[in-house]
Amino acid sequence: MSGAADEPILQTGHLLGIDALSVPEIESLLTLAERYVALNRAPEKKQNVLRGRTLINLFFESSTRTQSSFELAGKRLGADVLNMAVKNSSVSKGETLIDTATTLNAMRPDILVVRHQDSGAAELLSRKVDCCVVNAGDGAHEHPTQALLDALTIKRRRGSFEGLLVAICGDIAHSRVARSNIHLLSKMGARVRLIAPRTLLPADADRLGVEISTDMRKGLEGVDIVMMLRLQLERMGGAFIPSAREYFHFYGLDREKLNCAKPGALVMHPGPMNRGVEIDSDIADDVEVSLIREQVEMGLAIRMAVLDALARGLPREGRNAA
Ligand code: NCD
Repeated sequence: MSGAADEPILQTGHLLGIDALSVPEIESLLTLAERYVALNRAPEKKQNVLRGRTLINLFFESSTRTQSSFELAGKRLGADVLNMAVKNSSVSKGETLIDTATTLNAMRPDILVVRHQDSGAAELLSRKVDCCVVNAGDGAHEHPTQALLDALTIKRRRGSFEGLLVAICGDIAHSRVARSNIHLLSKMGARVRLIAPRTLLPADADRLGVEISTDMRKGLEGVDIVMMLRLQLERMGGAFIPSAREYFHFYGLDREKLNCAKPGALVMHPGPMNRGVEIDSDIADDVEVSLIREQVEMGLAIRMAVLDALARGLPREGRNAA
């Protein structure tokens, strides 16, 4: 159990993806995050588990929720936090990912949080630097802290994952959120159903061990949780959908389609949302069914838990002495 402070939680010194995590590791992170939910709701929010440590946020893609919550998580835990603005850095002068990382590594950070447009970027970095690496999203591959925060949100509402039917709907082909969630939900005993037009299903969909539907209304039957995804236009090389209007007609979540799911079904979205494209504002803003704001709150708690867990593996003294 993750109860006692300092008890190790993660087997490796990085968080690169959900695929590599065991069920006990996931459970321990969720349990630890519950403590941070409580702390974040208290008036005094500062802890010192990262005191003396340095956290660098290295984001090659834009981000609102993920970057700000890693920054706040680091600060609440007492770390010095540096946000690298990649647009103003030497990356815009052509410096490679590895050169940038090697430069930052020489400043001896303890934790490097990286988001990059290429799948495998975080794993590559973890082999080149001396510090812990957290994957904050690599291409269409993985986004582990998003899946963990989604899991925490679901667990707090539904108690357990066993027997739950979760639909992941929309642009699955380009979504690292979908991939990490498929791994996590399947490991924890939930059933996963992908709902998307054929063009937005990943090529390996049949090998992911999930149910598949190309019809939104039929696909939503019996579903407990409806997870909507953004159309990731920046990852689409060509035309994957005829038009946004037509897409909303067939796959956009509105009240009428939500009524096809189980009564009491809850709706999630990792953000940023395209209102009127994949989700109707009427649903997104309905606090009775939408967990979207709660997901953001859980995101901060999860990132604090991940940083805390990684810090437990850092040597106390002399680590950077060489
Ligand atoms: C997601 C991402 O960047 O992968 N956003 C997020 O982290 N909250 C999903 C998206 O960009 O659509």
